[in-house]
Amino acid sequence: VRDFTIAIDGPAASGKSSTARALALELGFGYIDSGSIYRCATLLALRHNITDIGTGATDLIELINKSSVDIKFQPSTTRSSPNLITGRLSVPDVRILLNDEDVSEEIRKPGVNRLVAKVASDGEVRTAVLGIQRALAKAAETRSTDVVDKEGVVSVPGGVVMDGRDIGTTIFPNAELKIYLDASAMARAIRRWDEMNSSLKQARAKAPVAAADSAPVANERAPAEYPSVEDIARELEERDYADINRQHSPLRIAKDAVVIDNTTMTFEQQVYSIADLARDRM
Ligand code: C5P
Repeated sequence: VRDFTIAIDGPAASGKSSTARALALELGFGYIDSGSIYRCATLLALRHNITDIGTGATDLIELINKSSVDIKFQPSTTRSSPNLITGRLSVPDVRILLNDEDVSEEIRKPGVNRLVAKVASDGEVRTAVLGIQRALAKAAETRSTDVVDKEGVVSVPGGVVMDGRDIGTTIFPNAELKIYLDASAMARAIRRWDEMNSSLKQARAKAPVAAADSAPVANERAPAEYPSVEDIARELEERDYADINRQHSPLRIAKDAVVIDNTTMTFEQQVYSIADLARDRM
């Protein structure tokens, strides 16, 4: 049994991260969110007021090389107690640690969204990130194990799921399964807007008094921090344009990738169809 790598690429907000996490849980694999490493690099640039981004920003490269990024993904399910039985998929939480500080929420904020594609267009930033990516993938990869099944002892492959923009084309060109996940621009913008609103609701439920000052109510305009669907659509479009048209590792469909457009698919349908593709190739 070989260890198995699944590469998931696609435009912004096409559902790569939640699909990859549910899939990793389903298969008992590790998970690496490669975009979060570029987001951490962007946060470093913002915090240190680095402005010469996209042109071999030396100070930023030095900062990235000095920093540690850790991705905590610890789904409790193993293949001997498959999640499939529940009939519902859960999406395990992931925490992103930059120099041991939990920056999971901060790296999803509008300031980082606006700058990240520019940071990621820098060839030297990409080289610095590559080292972190490979080390994390190695550490996250689960090993093949022998499990007792109703058919006796069977060997279950271990592996890793990584999502991003250049995973199937550049990072793991020999991945056993490559998926290119896409959805219409409007579907992606609406999903991202929904996501932002539900995390806002959660924050309000947790701290009703403190959040009441800053959180919008139904008939009130959201503060600048929470953009409209149109704002989000524009931001996604700009980011995709930058990712597709950059010189280094642009977003492309790998020639051996399976393209899945999930505009009208349920989450379960897409995760189970990818899990089936993976099991067929194991
Ligand atoms: O996936 P996510 O939206 O978090 O990625 C943020 C940005 O990081 C992308 O828009 C892209 O510019 C960059 N990125 C990249 N290569 C990857 C993953 C992300 O260039 N493999």
